[in-house]
Amino acid sequence: MNDWIEICRVDDIPVLGARRVRRPAGTDVAIFRTESDRVFALLDRCPHKGGPLSQGIVFGEHVACPLHNWAIALEDGQARAPDIGCATRFEVRVEGGAVSLLASELATLAIDDADAAAALAAARKVIAIASA
Ligand code: FES
Repeated sequence: MNDWIEICRVDDIPVLGARRVRRPAGTDVAIFRTESDRVFALLDRCPHKGGPLSQGIVFGEHVACPLHNWAIALEDGQARAPDIGCATRFEVRVEGGAVSLLASELATLAIDDADAAAALAAARKVIAIASA
């Protein structure tokens, strides 16, 4: 499926920094730019205790979580040993300097239970109105 949506330009992301992408539901997504202009996207939640990875320090192709300094690989979200955990990774496309993410992943990956319950409740309400 081709549901890429343009989020920003590479130049909108600071070198060795990050920006956050808000979603209709669920935790924000952090998009990172390395020194060599590679761009990666991870859920903005550390697999340790939920620290905001977008506020971390990017080094090489890792980000150091601002809370307890775990090193998370930008490529796959894996914590560096001896720590164990994985941040949800999102596909990124960079074309002509434009950074795009998949709308289908933004809508579905790592959507919290609370958000899912709210979405379900909203859907039930619509169903109730429709059948009244
Ligand atoms: S919350 Fe990220 S290292 Fe603890």
